[in-house]
Amino acid sequence: MSEIKKPVFKPNKEFSKNARVKNMCEYNDLQDWATEDYEGFWEHFASEKITWKEPFTSVLDESNTPFVKWFEGGKLNVAEQCIDRHLDKRKNKAAIIFEGDRGDKQVITYLQLFQNVNRFANLLKNKFDVKKGDRVVIYMPMIPEAAYAMLACARIGAIHSIVFGGFSAEALKDRIEDADAKVVITADGAFRKDKPYMLKNVVDKALEGSTPVKKVLVVERNGEDIEWIANRDYSYYELINNESDKCEAEVMDSEDPLFLLYTSGSTGKPKGVQHNSAGYILWAQMTMEWVFDVKENDTYWCTADVGWITGHTYIVYGPLAMGATTVMFEGVPTYPDAGRPWKMVEEYKINQFYTAPTAIRVLHKLGENEPSKYDLSSLKVLGTVGEPIDPPAWRWYYEQVGNSKCAIVDTYWQTETGGHIVSPLPGATPIKPACATLPVPGIMAEILDSQTGEKAEVGETGYMCITKPWPAQIRNVWGDEERYKKSYFGDVKKDGKAVYFTGDGAVYDEDGYITITGRTDDVINVSGHRMGTAEVEAAIKKHPNVAEVAVVGKPHELKGEGIFAYVVLKQDDGVADEVEEVKAINAVIKTEIGNIALCDDMVFAPNLPKTRSGKIMRRILRSIAKGEKITQDISTLEDPSIVKIIEDKVNS
Ligand code: WT7
Repeated sequence: MSEIKKPVFKPNKEFSKNARVKNMCEYNDLQDWATEDYEGFWEHFASEKITWKEPFTSVLDESNTPFVKWFEGGKLNVAEQCIDRHLDKRKNKAAIIFEGDRGDKQVITYLQLFQNVNRFANLLKNKFDVKKGDRVVIYMPMIPEAAYAMLACARIGAIHSIVFGGFSAEALKDRIEDADAKVVITADGAFRKDKPYMLKNVVDKALEGSTPVKKVLVVERNGEDIEWIANRDYSYYELINNESDKCEAEVMDSEDPLFLLYTSGSTGKPKGVQHNSAGYILWAQMTMEWVFDVKENDTYWCTADVGWITGHTYIVYGPLAMGATTVMFEGVPTYPDAGRPWKMVEEYKINQFYTAPTAIRVLHKLGENEPSKYDLSSLKVLGTVGEPIDPPAWRWYYEQVGNSKCAIVDTYWQTETGGHIVSPLPGATPIKPACATLPVPGIMAEILDSQTGEKAEVGETGYMCITKPWPAQIRNVWGDEERYKKSYFGDVKKDGKAVYFTGDGAVYDEDGYITITGRTDDVINVSGHRMGTAEVEAAIKKHPNVAEVAVVGKPHELKGEGIFAYVVLKQDDGVADEVEEVKAINAVIKTEIGNIALCDDMVFAPNLPKTRSGKIMRRILRSIAKGEKITQDISTLEDPSIVKIIEDKVNS
């Protein structure tokens, strides 16, 4: 595979002078230290960064691999790590700056955060009977109370499971049931593009029939009418001020679970990714410091939603653990116009801005010259995450937003890794457009040959793996140890030992830099969100007319990938009204998963290309969706003629 050599951009010299990692020598020293003395490296940082209630007695226990244990014997509380320990020095420092969709603003200091979280924690404990180890589902908009809810759970040792507000009642129900949650925290709704939208009605629907949920806490945000169910639904504002702002933090073991976050895999059922306390918070804080290099007086903004891992690690836990000021935004970046983020950068003097390629593409398309209308000189580091960024979007971000002086950190990671695993360090790493560059120090990320398990050759696409356990790694798939083992440690072996496989392909260039090439499994990446094709297929199959379906990804100008569905209907004598049928099937997807999984393309076919043993040849369907010529041998198909029929349908 030959590639045009990518240009290299050196770090800004002024920036490097004060950076935590100042040059590649320092980077290499860190990575060498971790390579030579892995446990010593982690012991050092865990001791330095975490305020322990009791020190840990061992660093890494691999005796029951892949079920690893970090920092055993250690006791801590993650909410204290994020709040209490800052009160001495940062009581009046802004912890959270909130901007609502309609421009309303709120600054929450560390002292206020402490009080709000403690009241919230007391409320959960006293009125909702939430105890250590209980699961609490959070279905919330982007408002400060979502962060309070997370930290309140952490304070009392409850395990939160946030469900993104775009998921449907069915999807919410599945996640509630799988986690066996006893409380749901939600809001009436919130605002988007100056209009109210609703969440509470979705919760009502999800709780219909039998449910493990006993009580629902509702934060009033948009003031719209909602239904209140007696002895189940409670108003946050009616109750919260009765609670004391002192709440003793639960003493947690390093390996006590902190949260679950459901994500898509290659089967129809989402996985409850479990993260535990000490290792997760350590890495959240270390990567905040190394990758964003946030300084004491900086203001940092990540545009993600708390419903995704980025919102967990890089809006709430990471920034607060390091005592930073984190911006939370309720609205959408293109409203009232595509200058909104730049207006906010100017107003709050944002120093680090972190967003997704899909947002960059939309902001570029709708507001190419918007950045020049604002003073963006406060910016030092620009981040991107969620999918490979394409060079044109990268260039615009670098030149127009960053004025060619900011580092772009293309951070590669996933829900399961807890925090960044491959990324430039802004003061050290020379960057290349659309390249995640090198492992973050401490992470043994390697591209392995899919056949031999040896390190991949330059230019050869291999499997992106992590060959040693790391503190913030997934600990389990909630309630399914087998699936944990199979999903992550089943495919790749190095030196005969199963290693963690991310599911992504990647390639080294001649400088040893890593470029992520995308998923190797049946997972597609829509606007930076992971979507299992099996999950979408399972939803479509619920439509009574559908006999068979195959879903694949197709490149999409703004979303990165779009969802392309091939549907076989039960009566194969053609569809009376295809437009109506598409609508009906999308309506099912909306009910089963939510708007995020609606199909961009849907084609009805009399059959699907299958092998004689009945396996659907998705590779062929992917090629057809992309408009590529079919190069595979189709003679082994059960019915080779179907390929031409489908191609004609797609091209018509
Ligand atoms: C998948 C993880 C990580 C938080 C948001 C998504 C893709 C993520 C990059 C990047 C290329 C990337 C991978 C990964 N991905 N970051 N910088 N370059 N691809 O979390 O939903 O767990 O998805 O997103 O395919 O496996 P997620």
